[in-house]
Amino acid sequence: MRETPDPHSLLHWYDAHARAMPWRVPPADKQAGVRPDPYRVWLSEIMLQQTTVAAVKDYFTRFTTLWPTVTALAAAEDADVMAAWAGLGYYARARNLLKCARVVVADHGGLFPNTVEALQTLPGIGPYTSAAIASIAFDQQATVVDGNVERVMSRLYAVETPLPTSKPELVALATALTPDRRQGDYNQAVMDLGATICTPKSPACGICPWMAGCKARAAGIAAELPHKLPKTRKPTRLGIAYVARRPDGAWLLETRPEKGLLGGMLGWPGSDWSGTPAPAPPMEANWQETGVEIRHTFTHFHLKLQVLTAVTDIAPDRGRFIAHERFSPAALPTVMRKVYDAASPALALD
Ligand code: ADE
Repeated sequence: MRETPDPHSLLHWYDAHARAMPWRVPPADKQAGVRPDPYRVWLSEIMLQQTTVAAVKDYFTRFTTLWPTVTALAAAEDADVMAAWAGLGYYARARNLLKCARVVVADHGGLFPNTVEALQTLPGIGPYTSAAIASIAFDQQATVVDGNVERVMSRLYAVETPLPTSKPELVALATALTPDRRQGDYNQAVMDLGATICTPKSPACGICPWMAGCKARAAGIAAELPHKLPKTRKPTRLGIAYVARRPDGAWLLETRPEKGLLGGMLGWPGSDWSGTPAPAPPMEANWQETGVEIRHTFTHFHLKLQVLTAVTDIAPDRGRFIAHERFSPAALPTVMRKVYDAASPALALD
């Protein structure tokens, strides 16, 4: 084994240990000439932003079953795509996904461009995703740096500067180490190493293909790295969700504005959590407290929601009633689903 980190020993490890994923072409198939489908690579990388592989797998399978090509996705109804994304979070990704699919079809003949620069002109594709698609789908020279890669690099080179200050240094180290062939496999190998061996708490250094060249291991500090600057505490916001049902069973819902939190998703009236005063109910009715407090954490704040319910046939000031048969709680984002679960016992109709 070599004393400096060597891409080839990592690729050799990846050939035997690559994780199977529904969007991946296994290394042996790639060597035999199978090319990854750029549509599947793109879709998986958008879904994997801020989201774990385990959470993404079923969504990926559902999306590719419903829309097997970028052309099929571009032709989908917005509401169907938003409903299929429900529960995965960071809903701007879903809105940009559709925009991107439509641009690829309208301006690129349904084919994803193959360079980092051209990919970055597309909606929802920034430095991370363009590097992932260019390398994984097209074996272009590009380096993917996610949390796993940051951890691996900080240990390999014993970088003691805390994150995020160290980020540019880690990107430079990762870039310098990227080989000039099999870039896609290599990038995925570093991510797999970080996910399975070079793990945050107790790295399995004894079986690491990069053990010999790892400075943190030599210094006995692998498990302590990377250092991180303390996170700022998230504020807590309070809100009210109003869940109304008509006597015929229909549910009162709103499609949230395109811009802003949970933009374009279905939700219950009252869920503007920007501060005080609490939003007024969508209509006068005999609103009842459920006594349940919903808690949900977003990127920048914690939310505590009181849930009020009413059965009424008074027309609302805003929102629209959706017939019970046409309403699917699975189409709600997670916080709205929690509200539904809290409210529905009080609103059971016989
Ligand atoms: N995280 C994001 N993209 C990934 C990929 N292609 N393989 C493994 N983990 C990932």
